[in-house]
Amino acid sequence: MRIKRHPILTFERGREITFDFEGRKIKAYEGESIAASLHAAGIRVLSESLRFHRPRGFFCAIGKCSSCLMEVDGVPNVRTCIEPVRPGIKVRRQKGGIGRINIEVEKKIHQKPELETVKTDIAVVGGGPAGLSAAIYGAKYGARIVVVEENPRLGGQLIKQTHKFFGSHSQFASVRGIEIAERLSGEIPGDKVDIITHSSVVGYFPEEKTLIAYGEGKLIKIVPERLIVATGAQENFLPFEGNDLPGVYGAGAIQTLMNVYGIIPGNKVLMVGAGNIGVIVSYQLLQAGVKVAAIVEAMPKIGAYQVHASKVARAGVPIYTRHTIKKAIGKEKVEGAVIVALDEKWNEVPGTERELEVDTICLAIGLTPSTELLSQAGCEMRYIPELGGPVPWHDEDLETSVSGIYVAGDASGIDEASTAMLEGRLTGVAAAEDLFGATKTTRKEKEEIIRALDELREGPFGERVRIGKQKLLTGGAR
Ligand code: FES
Repeated sequence: MRIKRHPILTFERGREITFDFEGRKIKAYEGESIAASLHAAGIRVLSESLRFHRPRGFFCAIGKCSSCLMEVDGVPNVRTCIEPVRPGIKVRRQKGGIGRINIEVEKKIHQKPELETVKTDIAVVGGGPAGLSAAIYGAKYGARIVVVEENPRLGGQLIKQTHKFFGSHSQFASVRGIEIAERLSGEIPGDKVDIITHSSVVGYFPEEKTLIAYGEGKLIKIVPERLIVATGAQENFLPFEGNDLPGVYGAGAIQTLMNVYGIIPGNKVLMVGAGNIGVIVSYQLLQAGVKVAAIVEAMPKIGAYQVHASKVARAGVPIYTRHTIKKAIGKEKVEGAVIVALDEKWNEVPGTERELEVDTICLAIGLTPSTELLSQAGCEMRYIPELGGPVPWHDEDLETSVSGIYVAGDASGIDEASTAMLEGRLTGVAAAEDLFGATKTTRKEKEEIIRALDELREGPFGERVRIGKQKLLTGGAR
């Protein structure tokens, strides 16, 4: 399952190690997640459903869906998709999906819980394109910053994006996402920004204006003057028979497996969704040597940029518009799929069912903003379909209805990584202004960022977000 040759990527694997999976010795490389190592060893079933004990594999691979919870060294409910492998660990599946707390293990781990308190000007939750940009620009205008990221690596979704970006030079046009992640990480001024990785923010306490993060056996209390939430988004799911079978993966999970860890998700894939993500990931699958049996798209038209769609069409991948997946076939994992045509009213057309022999089904059907922390902080939420669902109300500076709390990137409404970076910059400048006062330079910087955002959202591809943001702004805070 490991990719040996790739046209763009070289995989520098860490030291070879072994760990124990239910009595079986598994080979892995340091730096991989437990779920990725298990997948490379051919193990797709990581968990089971609560009630009917149906097999479950991972789905999001970024710590957001809980379908990969396993017991690791006696500790239950570990998100194995973001938990790095370590030599000699013992990993096992949990009966009934949810693990039980082992008091002895708990006592050992939490005998002396370490609690660290950190005070800072600005806390940034999320180390993706928006969060890193916010940190760079907040620091540029004099703020001390703490960035908390739950994955072991910085860069968010950029670290798996091998395609080149569009836009202008200042938005990294013609640069691959993986390189942008490196450049942003390299621009972080180490004397002003503290980075905490592999730690999840588990709560915000509005009265104390305090965040609590947990990671690597440590609790961290973060008390910021201002807060920027750049928590990104989570993959949407689709109801169809067998959609919980191991082998039904989100597009981001497949990119993580292939482009971060150099592991193929399977041998033959059905892609559901012909938007930019579905088509780009299909091309990346072909680059990794995986067959793409078909792409199905429920809409009458392909949503992706023509340049991407032409590439997969040239490679011989059929794209069926007005089609969807009807069911996944298989007992323990995906062994096939049935697709079906849809009429203008989105009803299945009887007799058009077609069975495809695939071992992986990839869902690329959109994203929903990850806004739990903002809700918890008391920010006023609005349901704006054009922005992907529930988003916090925010003004032009991306400040929410709670004074001093800003939102940037996909958490403010689903859009491209280029606009996420601009929104991150804007919140960094705005939060610094809020702390130290506006100057001619900060005002000019904000104007330029807003102009660049407007330019990126011009034209038919930006229309959806343009309308969504307009709805938010004209609605005002209640
Ligand atoms: S939380 Fe691990 S796969 Fe989603």
